[in-house]
Amino acid sequence: MSRIKIFDTTLRDGEQSPGVNLNLAEKIVIAEQLERLNVDIIEAGFPAASKGDFTSVQKIAQTIKNSSVTGLARAVQSDIDTAWEALKDGAEPRIHVFLATSPIHRQYKLKMSKEQVVEKAVSAVKYAAQKFPIIQWSAEDACRTELPFLAEIIEEVIQAGAHVINIPDTVGYINPYEYSKVFQYLKNNVPSFDKVSFSTHCHDDLGMATANSLAAIEHGATQVECTINGIGERAGNAALEEIAVALHIRNDHYKKSTRINLKEISRTSSLVSELTGMVVPGNKAIVGRNAFAHESGIHQDGVLKEKTTYEIISPELVGYQSNNMVLGKHSGSHAFKTRLVELGLKIDDSDVKELFVAFKELTDHKKEITDEDIIAIVLEKKLSKEEKYYELVDVKVNHIEGSAPKATVKLSGAKNELIEQTGTGSGSVEALYNTLEKSVNGDANLLDYRIQSVGGGRDALAQVFVKVRYQDTESNGRGLDQDVLVASAKAYLHAINRVILEKEQTVEIVNS
Ligand code: KIV
Ligand code: ZN
Repeated sequence: MSRIKIFDTTLRDGEQSPGVNLNLAEKIVIAEQLERLNVDIIEAGFPAASKGDFTSVQKIAQTIKNSSVTGLARAVQSDIDTAWEALKDGAEPRIHVFLATSPIHRQYKLKMSKEQVVEKAVSAVKYAAQKFPIIQWSAEDACRTELPFLAEIIEEVIQAGAHVINIPDTVGYINPYEYSKVFQYLKNNVPSFDKVSFSTHCHDDLGMATANSLAAIEHGATQVECTINGIGERAGNAALEEIAVALHIRNDHYKKSTRINLKEISRTSSLVSELTGMVVPGNKAIVGRNAFAHESGIHQDGVLKEKTTYEIISPELVGYQSNNMVLGKHSGSHAFKTRLVELGLKIDDSDVKELFVAFKELTDHKKEITDEDIIAIVLEKKLSKEEKYYELVDVKVNHIEGSAPKATVKLSGAKNELIEQTGTGSGSVEALYNTLEKSVNGDANLLDYRIQSVGGGRDALAQVFVKVRYQDTESNGRGLDQDVLVASAKAYLHAINRVILEKEQTVEIVNS
């Protein structure tokens, strides 16, 4: 059975989702989880786009050993040089060079003739070949490109040294039948088709990204580009979990395997949703809250009699556990450490002690500590290494019947100075946020506020997500605590700190 390579672009195309802006620590945590999921290739970013992107691609390439790490580059020497600097320490450095080929892009964006586009693509690939052992070339907007020209330029870039050819449906326009025909055409008209790998990269504007990717796999693609939860530009990219599970469940039809560890899917999905702030819709295939729920009486009856009547995928297959192992007050450090190992969490020995203290503190307030709690504690610890500007020292909110709630907040600032403020509001959260706003030097408008529990039970940890506009920049923040108001304060400060720290970096956004 032939194997399909999974190329994950959550950290590049996924990060281009409106409103998503991951920092270095978050990107590393996601990359480590993608490695645990066993993706073949991680596209970690676009190194020439900004200093921040460069650093995160470099750090990810240096950290990840079991997946190949790649970065995007325009077909220009300076982008390729920057990508090499970022990727050269990786286990298997590869570059992803792209250039648009469609008449619309040639005429309006590039203002180049067909000949000029071929010449630019070929010289970029030849230049990249002097540095990189593996080169992927993408024909941006391939699906709206004249097929004879697409075949011609592909043959040229293969001759120039490309190893992987990607056929993106950049604008999510094509349908599965037409996409199959594109691959069939290329198979018949690119003389070196069999000497390289072909890749699929689909956007979901018409809701056909997964179906298109699977159609390409049936017609010669051996690599599929996708993102966790299908996040990405506009309507997003093809969803990794849908493709991996479809290939597994419908193996009778596709007869292709992947190396994906399907049991890591639910955890990866939650992590990406949590760190990007992009909520997974309840009815989302494979990872939505309702994906395995049976509501109608007839269905429930059928499932109770025989699961396969209405269930084609078992929740356990993708990592939803029915009997989550529970630790508690009496669990010692050995049991805690064992669980960390069983959960596949990479923890430095020096951090285990501190994590155990956090675990014990939680057992003072919470009877049963589930895997979700442990993962949340570990994540908090990993991400708390981020630099902070403002840190929460204390928060109190008094709610006296008949009068406006009053908040008192203590923060430490960049020079460890203590900032103390009080304020009121029509509710506890508003009082808290009005007071925090006074403390952070400038207007900070709250654009979105969401709260969810980590796992079940009335003593569950609270996770708060906010979107704030501060210093003319929109920023997301997260906060975790057993107390809803402390979690709310942490989330707000997280969003504010991100803006301050990002502004400190010199950002040179390249207009691609
Ligand atoms: O959608 C697209 O065309 C892309 C390319 C850069 C591969 O993301
Ligand atoms: Zn794309």
